[in-house]
Amino acid sequence: MESQLDLLLRGEMSVVMRMPYSSNATFLVSIASDEKSVQAIYKPMRGERPLWDFEPGLHRREVAAYRLSQAMGLNCVPATVLRDGPSGEGSVQLLIDANPDEHYFTLFEQRIELHDQFRAMCAFDIIINNTDRKSGHVLVDKDAHVWGIDHGLCFASDFKLRTVIWEFGGEPLSESICQVIKPLTSSVPLEVATLLSEQEIDAIIERAEWLSQGAMFPVDQSGRLYPWPLV
Ligand SMILES: Nc1ncnc2c1ncn2[C@@H]1O[C@H](COP(=O)(O)OP(=O)(O)O)[C@@H](O)[C@H]1O
Ligand SMILES: [Mg+2]
Repeated sequence: MESQLDLLLRGEMSVVMRMPYSSNATFLVSIASDEKSVQAIYKPMRGERPLWDFEPGLHRREVAAYRLSQAMGLNCVPATVLRDGPSGEGSVQLLIDANPDEHYFTLFEQRIELHDQFRAMCAFDIIINNTDRKSGHVLVDKDAHVWGIDHGLCFASDFKLRTVIWEFGGEPLSESICQVIKPLTSSVPLEVATLLSEQEIDAIIERAEWLSQGAMFPVDQSGRLYPWPLV
């Protein structure tokens, strides 16, 4: 039986529509093999809006975030692959069936049972230096699994965290989160490192050391480390 990753990598891709409200060219696609088909989000490199603070190739950061989440055992990013498509090379990420009215702010208030998954995502965002953890980039599926999306603006070597997840600031990290971060204080998995620059790889290790040593969720003393818009 083919795995989900195999299907994303090798299935035939056809564009369903361009996603509304997306800043870059982001497409809803269908990916089919003889056995089955899934829906996914395709972000071709060619459709990226140029940015002053990130080199072109944001799609590679999407894939790096998925691979790191898997390597850490967090499974908090939907399966994402690097492949060719109708508009050239891009990232292809499995579509999560989530209610669009639910996002971090509503879920934090209403779903206390998800808080541990939010804690894990908060730690993950610090490690990947996420510059764009908007509330709407946090989804929950029908099995109460929390997923993070839109990781194009991650892994910069300069610390520039922008996130809405600050509720845990000052709380000690759980033993399980400490265990997940620890391996990154010595090395970054090859499948992640191959997508990033030398400086960006070193910076992952530095952030992992910083978080491990502090052993608590940081507090935003400046009050400015939020993305815009918030949702
Ligand atoms: N894997 C996914 N599953 C479900 N919805 C997604 C997924 N990826 C993106 N989306 C939807 O598409 C919108 C635009 O995608 P996003 O990754 O935020 O791209 P952009 O870089 O254009 O902001 C998201 O706000 C979300 O509604
Ligand atoms: Mg977005």
